[in-house]
Amino acid sequence: MQLEIAQPFTQKPHVVVAPANPLIGNSARMRVVHALIAKLANSKSTVLITGESGTGKELAARAIHESSPRRGESFVPVNCGAIPEELLESELFGHVRGAFTGAVNARQGRFQLANGGTLFLDEIGEMSPKLQVKLLRVLQERQFEPVGSDHTVQVDVRVVAATNRDLQVAVREGRFREDLFYRLNVLPLELPSLRAREGDTALLIRHFLKLHGRRKGKPILEVDPAAMALLERYDWPGNVREVENLVERLVVLNEDGVIRAGDLPDYVATNSVPHHQKTAEVSLPHQGVDLDGFLERIENGFIQQALERSRGNKTLAAELLKLNRTTFIERLRKKGMLQPVRRPSLPAEAVGKMTDNSISLTASDSNLWNPSAFAYADGEKIANVSS
Ligand SMILES: Nc1ncnc2c1ncn2[C@@H]1O[C@H](COP(=O)(O)OP(=O)(O)OP(=O)(O)O)[C@@H](O)[C@H]1O
Ligand SMILES: [Mg+2]
Repeated sequence: MQLEIAQPFTQKPHVVVAPANPLIGNSARMRVVHALIAKLANSKSTVLITGESGTGKELAARAIHESSPRRGESFVPVNCGAIPEELLESELFGHVRGAFTGAVNARQGRFQLANGGTLFLDEIGEMSPKLQVKLLRVLQERQFEPVGSDHTVQVDVRVVAATNRDLQVAVREGRFREDLFYRLNVLPLELPSLRAREGDTALLIRHFLKLHGRRKGKPILEVDPAAMALLERYDWPGNVREVENLVERLVVLNEDGVIRAGDLPDYVATNSVPHHQKTAEVSLPHQGVDLDGFLERIENGFIQQALERSRGNKTLAAELLKLNRTTFIERLRKKGMLQPVRRPSLPAEAVGKMTDNSISLTASDSNLWNPSAFAYADGEKIANVSS
């Protein structure tokens, strides 16, 4: 077996022209993120970025690369969730000619393209068990064999991975290798949801007003105080991406230079779940849907209701949700919902007798499986759950 040392890739596939840290945010949580990015940029160790959808994980990965000594080399992103397993292996590690049907020519993989630079493995939680084994070896030895080859290739790549899933839960459920989790989680970076970033919504709105105003050749819009108050109060389930999309729409539609409360969509004005996220009866919107954010809000809503109904008794709440108590507490901890509850706990018998007309936790199983049933029942409550 021969060992091939990959040379730094000269023809850069992704030249990122960006300031070292483009993440807007001045809240206490984001100041911690900025400080961490500056710190971990200088290390070669693997970073695992976690956070809800739209919180800026990819932007943070780019910021780490741009702040690191590798900034002159390639930043190569791969979305592990978007590529089928067979293709992902060849995409990451490359293949030799004839390695599989259709492999007419040899092809370098992303690991080689990122040599000397940073490989961003997005949606790492979606990776198949087979590829998890192969990735573990690269992370340990910086070596791999392209598909169909017995030549070992050595690379110098810094790996930054990201996920909006709870990988620790995936490990417990046997879907993600524990050894790989620890290899990835050397330097963890958690991006807070927008709900946890006080003051950042207004900053982001102004930032995107400038950005999209400039892009569309329009003067920068003003936001009147009533509209800004509504925007700041809204929960932004899709986080920064949702802010950006809405601001872009407002810029396009605006005619008189000022955004007023009446220009905002109803779901923002009433801080409820956007209609397209409420029910599966409407067809999937053209631009797609933030499925993970939606499912997470349903989960948060049920957790909150279970805790309310059990008066904070976690054992009973876990039972209501058919979860093991430890798994339930771990989930609460991850979601920042593990606050001390001062009300006295109820005994188990009392909880069973409680009823609630509007909450689908008491509904029959068929209701639980009907998205429209719980979406409408929970609309208000889900929107008000903080993570
Ligand atoms: N702090 C921020 N400052 C400026 N723009 C941001 C910030 N965070 C996110 N964005 C912008 O919001 C959009 C979504 O960000 P990004 O793709 O990095 O999120 P993500 O966490 O990777 O989302 P997903 O989990 O859905 O992949 C992008 O257009 C990004 O540029
Ligand atoms: Mg992403």
